[in-house]
Amino acid sequence: MEELVVFGLTKSVGVSNFSISQIERICKMAKHKPVTNQVECLIYCPQKELFDGCKKLEVTLTAYSPIGSPGRPENLKEADEPVALEDPFIQRIAKKYGKTPAQILLRNLIQRGIIVTPKSVTPERIRGNFQVFDFSLSKGEMGYIDQITIQRRYFDMSAMFKDHPERP
Ligand SMILES: NC(=O)c1ccc[n+]([C@@H]2O[C@H](COP(=O)([O-])OP(=O)(O)OC[C@H]3O[C@@H](n4cnc5c(N)ncnc54)[C@H](OP(=O)(O)O)[C@@H]3O)[C@@H](O)[C@H]2O)c1
Repeated sequence: MEELVVFGLTKSVGVSNFSISQIERICKMAKHKPVTNQVECLIYCPQKELFDGCKKLEVTLTAYSPIGSPGRPENLKEADEPVALEDPFIQRIAKKYGKTPAQILLRNLIQRGIIVTPKSVTPERIRGNFQVFDFSLSKGEMGYIDQITIQRRYFDMSAMFKDHPERP
């Protein structure tokens, strides 16, 4: 991957689902450090330690499934799982700002300094997911979201790669 940078075939390289120890290890040995680490990150999986650790190494964090991946295959969902788009506080502040819950979830991550990758095949939603730069959440609202205690990972990589020594 580093050679792709040397040959000008890509500007930079990123990694995905790396733990902090893996990021530290690769940053020590790399000539071209990864610029980002893409991991699941949203209100129920805020990745605080990983974010702080990456920041120290000047590696950005990119959030996948930033609005909770509501379109995941049904067999990856649990009947009583918390749904980020239906979170009561998120819905309340969405009404206050005249925004959608998705826009509040994205704005929260952006204000934390996290890159977001919402996926949509719906033109109206794609446009809406960009309309997050004309308002900001207050310090109190950011703090309230920061205190959410629900923990939910929608993609359980450890189950997928359970016997691998480098599993995420
Ligand atoms: N690196 C990794 O291991 C990894 C793992 C998982 C995902 N990803 C990547 O991360 C990106 C996003 O992840 P994701 O698709 O799992 O999760 P997501 O972006 O949180 O959710 C996408 C789902 O939300 C719906 N949606 C989009 N905007 C919406 C809105 N404004 N209001 C309501 N629903 C909305 C989409 O429906 P419609 O499309 O029908 O509009 C789609 O079903 C994808 O590009 C994916 O490939 C990476």
